[in-house]
Amino acid sequence: MAETHFDDWVAQRYERVWPELFESAAVDPVVDLLAELACGGPALELGIGTGRIALPLSRRGVEVHGVELSPAMVARLRAQPGADAVGVTVGDFARTIVGGTFTLIYLLRNTITNLTTQDEQVECFRTAAAQLAPGGRFVVENYVPELRRLPPGETLHVFARTSDHLGFEEYGDLAAQVAVSHHYWAVDGELRTFSSPHRYVWPSELDLMGRLAGLTLRGRWSDWHRAPFTGDSRAHVSAWAKDS
Ligand SMILES: C[S@@+](CC[C@H](N)C(=O)[O-])C[C@H]1O[C@@H](n2cnc3c(N)ncnc32)[C@H](O)[C@@H]1O
Repeated sequence: MAETHFDDWVAQRYERVWPELFESAAVDPVVDLLAELACGGPALELGIGTGRIALPLSRRGVEVHGVELSPAMVARLRAQPGADAVGVTVGDFARTIVGGTFTLIYLLRNTITNLTTQDEQVECFRTAAAQLAPGGRFVVENYVPELRRLPPGETLHVFARTSDHLGFEEYGDLAAQVAVSHHYWAVDGELRTFSSPHRYVWPSELDLMGRLAGLTLRGRWSDWHRAPFTGDSRAHVSAWAKDS
């Protein structure tokens, strides 16, 4: 059963605790590539959140719909200018069929790992494929698992360390590929913590999920500027096409 860790506290402070995600250097290349891949058709964002990308993409002239599990994140989206143009269906994106077909379906910021079992991730690919127009693109932005950075016997990997934010991943269940992300923030003189489980997944396993769903890999880059993906890349943006 899907659950969201994005409660009212996080929804209200999403921009405050992850300010780097809202800088134009982070947003513009995402919007540019997604607008191009949508090819003039409608787009569906899985885990649309507060509309960080959906709102500027909609302003760019792309018709955008979203699926989101957290009512608090949807409420935050709805409170922003331009939200009227973006439809949202509340539900689990692994299974929710919105109605209609899309030329682009996309998942940003490692959100595929919020599905904590392989079965759910496979189901998500099938659900996306079922809603894509022939030739349409399914795009996933995800990190490459950081296992190479763990010294033998260690389970913790620090990914953020600033004066007001400590973030680290705890690699526990290697067989199920589940790691827990922990965040400690100092906000307004208060210490807040946020932990969520993630099923980390290799790019090659995502390609297999694509094949099971009738999707073929058409592009894989290490960032939104389409820099080449190599064995040393720490993240990828991958695009699969629905076989016609
Ligand atoms: C990391 S945030 C990304 C939000 C937005 N896409 C962005 O780039 O800012 C992940 C979002 O996915 C939502 N989410 C997680 N699992 C979900 C699921 N199974 N179904 C629908 N939404 C889900 C969370 O509630 C959260 O809003």
